[in-house]
Amino acid sequence: MFDAIAPRYDLLNSLLSLSLHHGWRREAARQTGLKAGGCALDVCTGTGDLAVELARLAGERGRVWATDFSLPMLQHGEDKLAARTGGVAKMALADTLALPFAADTFDAVSVGFGIRNVADVEAGIQEMARVARPGGRVVLLEFNRPLNPFIARLYDFYSFRVMPFVGGLVSGRREAYEYLPSSVKAFHSREELTAMMERAGLEDVRVTDLILGTVVIHQG
Ligand SMILES: C[S@@+](CC[C@H](N)C(=O)[O-])C[C@H]1O[C@@H](n2cnc3c(N)ncnc32)[C@H](O)[C@@H]1O
Repeated sequence: MFDAIAPRYDLLNSLLSLSLHHGWRREAARQTGLKAGGCALDVCTGTGDLAVELARLAGERGRVWATDFSLPMLQHGEDKLAARTGGVAKMALADTLALPFAADTFDAVSVGFGIRNVADVEAGIQEMARVARPGGRVVLLEFNRPLNPFIARLYDFYSFRVMPFVGGLVSGRREAYEYLPSSVKAFHSREELTAMMERAGLEDVRVTDLILGTVVIHQG
């Protein structure tokens, strides 16, 4: 599915979020606590937008790996990543469920709108925690259900009606933009994700709601 929508992925992110997604990624990157000269990994990176934000924090002495198992997604982000990070961030084809990195490697490990799509969410979180060094941080940026019932109804209208229509029109793959809201609806709650992070050995897990609770950051 992601191979198929890769050519229009960036355009649709900006259209469907009215470009707000850049701010959400910036906040998620900030919550990794990554410092200049640090070493970070962004899994399920797609076209690499969150890796760009990490590279901004890591600076020219830093190192960022951006991994995904969809080659077309990586290929569509490759030039952008090189241009915006000056080579600090590099891409690699890798399955989040079997990361090709040693344990305790990274100061920060992040995922943006990707963990929901991993076939085994808990195993994905455990794999992210495995490659984070002790004292490092793991950050999940993901859609979730708004807690306010009125906002939830508005969100349902937008995500089940508007998104598939616009997404289908622009990408020619309406089914991918129907999958998006139904996968969010079926996704784990904030509390379930927190429990998974704790079972993966992450401590001091904190949850931040953005944009009326439709986008949520978990950090541990
Ligand atoms: C909605 S996109 C998110 C892309 C990007 N992180 C962003 O914020 O825009 C989800 C990505 O997760 C990737 N993905 C899903 N399961 C994966 C896995 N097991 N290993 C690696 N990538 C995976 C897909 O290929 C896709 O590029």
